[in-house]
Amino acid sequence: MGMVADDLSPLAIKSGLKTRFVGQRVSYYPRLSSTMEVAREEVQQGAPEGTVVIADEQSAGKGRLNRVWLSPKGSVSLSIVLYPSMVYLPSLIMVASLAVVHAIKAVTGLRAQIKWPNDVLVNGKKVCGILIESGVRASSVDYAIIGIGINVNLKVSDFTDILPAATSLSDEVGRDVSRLELLRRLLVEVENSYLSLPQGEAVYREWRDKLITLGRKVHVSSGEAIYEGIAESVASDGSLLLRSLDGSLSQISAGDVSLCDLNRG
Ligand code: BTN
Repeated sequence: MGMVADDLSPLAIKSGLKTRFVGQRVSYYPRLSSTMEVAREEVQQGAPEGTVVIADEQSAGKGRLNRVWLSPKGSVSLSIVLYPSMVYLPSLIMVASLAVVHAIKAVTGLRAQIKWPNDVLVNGKKVCGILIESGVRASSVDYAIIGIGINVNLKVSDFTDILPAATSLSDEVGRDVSRLELLRRLLVEVENSYLSLPQGEAVYREWRDKLITLGRKVHVSSGEAIYEGIAESVASDGSLLLRSLDGSLSQISAGDVSLCDLNRG
């Protein structure tokens, strides 16, 4: 590793951290299966809101739609435990992806964009994946876990599986980036954005405006169904409004789809 601060110990993360609760309790592992699993166990043991589980490496990182998420050394893998009320649950993808965009900008100067619903891209390539899990009973939320995986200091060309759609921050800026600085900034951004949700639609509007997807031709697969058309807009619950070639409009929930391609054809 280069000359940048890279110690992700709880002490280094928490020292002087300007948050009320996000990151005030940290479980750090050099290597574990998945931070989502460990965070769920912590929830069962009564973890306070804002608890962070972080790992240098995951052996069984989980991606969306049961995909595997590669989390080698040099990446950052974390899960954040929250207890939101039901109305804010759909906003968590917006909170998380915007926080990542802001933290990347602050620490590297890079301008990241969001591919609906919550991939973060730099120069058109994926640099971060986000996974939200929640436990919902009747009409109340037991817990929500935001999982964030960022390719920070890795040479993506070493990982042929994820080429050519992926990149890393170090590949984009041409030097190592402090994972510690990035992480601490990210925790502050997540908390600020999360706490601002009751004040109105600012988070939704900023997320919508940072989506590169709108106005473009997309393929969306949702379970068995495949939609094709122009991504017209997004609703404040995060769902995508897709105009098909026959003129009909479909509303597709962010929870159960993957975007196959932005502008194939
Ligand atoms: C995606 O498919 O784009 C989402 C990837 C989410 C990866 C993160 S890394 C931290 C957390 N722990 C996991 O096992 N997955 C998420």
